[in-house]
Amino acid sequence: MSNSNTIQDIPEKPTRRQIRSIGPNGNYWYVVDTESGLKPGQVKKVRFWKQDIALFRDEEGGLHAIEDRCAHRQLPLSSGFVKGKNVMCTYHGWEFDGCGKCVKISHELGKDRTRLPKIKVRDYPVKQQWGLIWLFPGDPELAESVSLPKIPQLEGEKPWPFIPVEVTIKSHFTMIVENVCDFNHEYLHRRKQPFSKPRLREWKRDADSIHVYYDTKFDQSPAAKLFVEGGARDLNEIDIWYQYPYQGSDIGGKYIHWLFMLPEDEGTTRCFFVFLFGPIHLPLINRNIPEFLRKPILWFTNKWYIEPLLAEDKWALELEQQGYERYPEAPQIELNPAVFHFQKLSLEKWYDYIHTQPGQSTRKKVTGKTAVTPL
Ligand code: FES
Ligand SMILES: [Fe+2]
Repeated sequence: MSNSNTIQDIPEKPTRRQIRSIGPNGNYWYVVDTESGLKPGQVKKVRFWKQDIALFRDEEGGLHAIEDRCAHRQLPLSSGFVKGKNVMCTYHGWEFDGCGKCVKISHELGKDRTRLPKIKVRDYPVKQQWGLIWLFPGDPELAESVSLPKIPQLEGEKPWPFIPVEVTIKSHFTMIVENVCDFNHEYLHRRKQPFSKPRLREWKRDADSIHVYYDTKFDQSPAAKLFVEGGARDLNEIDIWYQYPYQGSDIGGKYIHWLFMLPEDEGTTRCFFVFLFGPIHLPLINRNIPEFLRKPILWFTNKWYIEPLLAEDKWALELEQQGYERYPEAPQIELNPAVFHFQKLSLEKWYDYIHTQPGQSTRKKVTGKTAVTPL
């Protein structure tokens, strides 16, 4: 997707303001909700980088995403209702199908017309995988050719169970990448100690992925003491990656996490975390727990340990965003060399997107015609 024009445009030494104002590249799949979070007959507003989208599940269970705008007087369709396979605007009751086409006007000026005026709002490719709802906000013609991340633990006959954790963080998505991939914020978690004594061993960029390797200990974490064989004393390193636009980590092939970010705007990012635990060990009986207990233990671990831990990151990140907004021109001071490369990757992807994607003319093609035909 890169081209030379794009690369030339990227500032050699981007300022903080440049980094903290870039958007995400829309030509990827983004998680917008969990499958169970959207019931048949329900419509919700989701946002991808300042675009409001009405996500709805029709009464037969079909999933659709269309621009959150009634073409009549621009009310959000997400404030309307699902009716059969359509979503109905709450004002005059016009109905739009899953492709964004107005298919029914039931009030007296519309109901007897043999042909409805051509009215359409944009629709978005959307699909479900691993219990998550994924949306492709960019050029829909590319959607089929772009893959979801490879997560072997979720493939095959016995996918690892997980319970996604959603956190909305009032900060720019690049700050979140820097938080999750940079273990130098050990101090923030000094009480919960998910990792300790981290030492940055190596980092490398390979195409659109940056891997960072830390030597670190996990045996001080209460969760590891309780649920990891040997209290995690054998686990001494972690591979953390920013695989654009996703983020993840792997401890010994046994404990994996993924983070799927949905940047809503410069100051708001919804985060969907997936924590994948291989063996869950109970020291009391010195055995791995049976399958039927995995989900309850995952739920308990989320509530007792992971969500409070993520709340610490959220707290710090929101303060960082506020600090940035108060002092936007303060120079960037960064000791971790990988952070610059996370930023560079995000910048490249954003520049790719804005240069190769919609000029207004492409956008017209993407959005379809919104005709305003006099009635
Ligand atoms: S504003 Fe939606 S039907 Fe009139
Ligand atoms: Fe953290």
